[in-house]
Amino acid sequence: MAEAASSENKVSVEHRGGVAIVAIDNPPVNALSFSVRKPLHDALVRLRDDAATAAIVVTCAGRTFIAGADITEFGKPMQDPDLRALIALLETIEKPTVAAIHGTALGGGLELALGCHFRVADKAAKLGLPEVKLGLLPGAGGTVRLPALIGPLMALDMISSGTPIAASEALEAGLVDALATDGLVADAAAFAAVKAAEGGPFSSVRLRRDKIEAVDGEQLEARIKAIVGKAKGLRAPVACTEAVRNAVLLPFDEALAAERTLFVELVASDQSKAQRHLFFAEREAAKVEGVDKSVKPRPIHRVGIIGAGTMGGGIAMAFANGGIPVTLVEAAEDALQRGLERIEKNYAISVSRGSLSEAAKAERMARLSGTTDYASLAECDLIIEAVFEDMVVKKGVLAAIDKVAKPGAIIATNTSYLDVNALAASVSRPQDFAGMHFFSPANIMKLLEIVRGRETAPDVLVTLLSLARTVGKVPVVVGVCHGFVGNRMLTARGADVEALLLEGASPADVDKAFTDFGWPMGPFQMWDLAGLDISWRNRKALGKTALIADWLCEQGRFGQKTGRGFYLYADGRTAQSDPELASHIADEAKRLGIAPRAISAEEIIDRTLYPLINEGSRILEEGIAARESDVDLVWVNGYGFPIGKGGPMFWARQKGLATIVERLAYWHQKTGKDVFHPSEWLKAKASEG
Ligand code: 3HC
Ligand code: NAI
Repeated sequence: MAEAASSENKVSVEHRGGVAIVAIDNPPVNALSFSVRKPLHDALVRLRDDAATAAIVVTCAGRTFIAGADITEFGKPMQDPDLRALIALLETIEKPTVAAIHGTALGGGLELALGCHFRVADKAAKLGLPEVKLGLLPGAGGTVRLPALIGPLMALDMISSGTPIAASEALEAGLVDALATDGLVADAAAFAAVKAAEGGPFSSVRLRRDKIEAVDGEQLEARIKAIVGKAKGLRAPVACTEAVRNAVLLPFDEALAAERTLFVELVASDQSKAQRHLFFAEREAAKVEGVDKSVKPRPIHRVGIIGAGTMGGGIAMAFANGGIPVTLVEAAEDALQRGLERIEKNYAISVSRGSLSEAAKAERMARLSGTTDYASLAECDLIIEAVFEDMVVKKGVLAAIDKVAKPGAIIATNTSYLDVNALAASVSRPQDFAGMHFFSPANIMKLLEIVRGRETAPDVLVTLLSLARTVGKVPVVVGVCHGFVGNRMLTARGADVEALLLEGASPADVDKAFTDFGWPMGPFQMWDLAGLDISWRNRKALGKTALIADWLCEQGRFGQKTGRGFYLYADGRTAQSDPELASHIADEAKRLGIAPRAISAEEIIDRTLYPLINEGSRILEEGIAARESDVDLVWVNGYGFPIGKGGPMFWARQKGLATIVERLAYWHQKTGKDVFHPSEWLKAKASEG
């Protein structure tokens, strides 16, 4: 007999003989909201006390097992029963309890399953504790029960990385007890019935100490040290290591209490708020103005790429890695061979580092076919040009693609700065045209700016959004302007840095202020790495100058690749300050009548980060980006803005927009530079409070 789940009651119970099947139905991902916890608690109490129930199976309706606590409830008062109480209740039940897992058992979902005596999983299921990615740690016993069940070393890896494991691996590790073969719920019910027939007592995870006692303490500490060393200023991975160490050293209940203390600290932290913001930002970014849910993506079976240079090669790898066949087209045979060899070499490096198997490398290479014949593009569903950044060259290439592409094929440009609407005019089907701005190295960097042209069709946007996620990218739809969202803001960030040098800061002072803030590197390190010649050429084309950078380029100092740039690189990699550059800057300052002074890290942040935020706000004002969180995604995933600070617009809100407007106005008054002129958007939002 089944008691149906109503909209108020998201938990139903069905009795199959002596086995009670408790089903949670809370779409879309069965998060453990209060509306689930309460009826689940009540159902478990009833079944615990019901003499006719011999065993209990907990399962979920819809596409997945429980994906975790309800993240939207964080920061609000928790309504009882909380998840820990539910798990504690499960552990008091003397009948066998079995979690039947399909889809993903994540976070609090896996923790609830760890409160059961047994776990049966669908073969395609994945299990993990991803809380660290939200700036948290598992807060309902996961850091204590998982080490007990599968051993502290493997648990530490899972908890500190947040990466889920496949059901087969979970079976091997003892995290699940059986894989379903005939149908998950039927198999779990049969499993539960057998256990009930065998009779108790059934051991709960809290009683298992064998794997805790067997752990090699030195090995554990070495792993912890490595994780802490790579935490990059984030508190959550470090807290994860502390909790797993507690699970080894402390009695069970004390370790649980210590985990709770850490969870409470993290959930209230700015870092976790920032990371939760980014989680929802990624999902928001899928929602595009004027595109409703009924729009279906076009099928993409093969991608064509023109240009096997730095970007074309990287983009080809990104698709090959994501399982999509690629046709790579170059102008000449030798350039094609060079491009393919570079890809092969990149994969070989991954193999030598142990991050890729020989078999996977062979599989990926087999997805790539090279040609100099544009006619081969006729079989492609998406064709991306990644040739030189030159309007005339690109227009010629696009017209050639237009001649051979099949009807309905999407044509895209990887341009960094050129006008996407002007490029769209060189094909006969501008509705099928968009920008796909990948970031270098394109096989690694997660950001993809999808540039919506004036005529880009809604289903083209939906296709590119969905394809990007398939190959592991974070897509953001942006509008047409010079440099789109990311590069346009980057220009604003760098607009005042040469002035900082002339006024007395060294490149190392500026870069240190950046790395102390949490950026992976500062602007001078970045320019030296990218090559100063590229922006020099760009400046010359636009009739612009940069006093110090132009001087460096005139001396053939293009950065790391020439061993000299803003820094000296005696060994090709390690940056050293250059006295010659320092004295040149001092001479220039003298010539310009600028008296050198000490410049604080705070001033460096004021004059770089605030123009960046200001430009972001102009981009929002113009509708080039749809929402603040889109700008944050661009900067976190494309330019290394520290994750724990949530992106420039989130950070600005935390800091207080009024402060930012006030500082911008101060610098605008002092320098007269437009990058400091606070936007109307910023002023309006600041006055809203
Ligand atoms: N709480 C609240 N909402 C959630 C959620 C959660 N845990 N997980 C997903 N959602 C929402 C998403 O925001 C999205 O909402 P929208 O449709 O309004 O934008 C919707 O559910 C669907 O999510 P996705 O678009 O991500 O769906 P996918 O099918 O692509 O992915 C998933 C499913 C793999 C489960 C993915 O949603 C995911 O990774 N979720 C988060 C898992 C997680 O971090 N769990 C840990 C939570 S913290 C915790 O459990 C603390 C505990 O230790 C005490
Ligand atoms: P690149 O010079 O490394 O590669 C360009 C390739 O295109 C060369 O291999 C060239 O032989 C090929 N090519 C030129 N004309 C061709 C034609 N008619 N048919 C076929 N192939 C042709 O340049 P890179 O850096 O890869 O840049 C390509 C595009 O990507 C540019 O638009 C650039 O602005 C953009 N981009 C570059 C980024 C970077 O960091 N390098 C980042 C994001 C975008």
